[in-house]
Amino acid sequence: MKQTTNIIISVLAVVSLSSCWWKAGKDNPGIEYAPDMYYSKGYEPMTQYSDSNKYRYNPYFMTMREPVKGTIAEGQLDYQYPFDNTEEGYEAAGANWKLKMDLSEADQKEGERLFGIYCAVCHGTKGLNDGPVPAKQVTLKPTHIYQDDYMKALPIGKIYHVLTYGRNNRMGSYAYALSPKERWSVASYVKRLTMMDSLGNVPAIKAMTSEASAITVQDTTKN
Ligand code: HEC
Repeated sequence: MKQTTNIIISVLAVVSLSSCWWKAGKDNPGIEYAPDMYYSKGYEPMTQYSDSNKYRYNPYFMTMREPVKGTIAEGQLDYQYPFDNTEEGYEAAGANWKLKMDLSEADQKEGERLFGIYCAVCHGTKGLNDGPVPAKQVTLKPTHIYQDDYMKALPIGKIYHVLTYGRNNRMGSYAYALSPKERWSVASYVKRLTMMDSLGNVPAIKAMTSEASAITVQDTTKN
């Protein structure tokens, strides 16, 4: 019994004294008991902790709060994009996300120009998938030419969704490069290309006015 007590006492002594020689150094914090008490968990400013629905206050899983209603510049309306990057989100965008801002003739011309910069490398200037990238890399060849029935029936909301998030890991997101207004403008050119006739004539530009959506973005200013 005495022996066991001695062993226990010496182990406790070694453990408690270890903090004396286990010195913290430049790259070594030493031994810390319950480090959570010393270092608080920081929030990354542009992320949202999404492991449970209760953290999902904002679109894009962002920890920051939504701007006050009426204070968002038109070009930054994607603060309020309400659909997730999932199949359900894609379908919901097709059903509910209508053109969200007016597009003048100049906006649509700009969409055509941006299509030439960002999309034609794969989709070709007319949506015939004859860009230089799929010629070298078949796995990046789009599934549909823009004039087939699938693309003719594709709602503009789905095109916007795909430009925002990308699609099937083959077509990338363009949210980093194109503002919401530019995405709508490019989407309007995609829609015009789907109406191209067999001689390669694309219908003339008509001004497009924004449509109300069935889904209204949640109003967070009440909380
Ligand atoms: C690197 C090649 C590449 C580039 C660049 C590219 N796409 Fe795509 N795109 C694809 C591929 C591949 C698919 C087929 C994706 C799938 O469904 O698997 C696709 C599909 C699509 C679809 C159909 C999506 C759907 O709902 O089925 C649209 C619309 C589209 N692209 C528009 C664009 C626009 C607009 C741009 C320019 C901003 C662009 N793409 C740039 C490769 C590309």
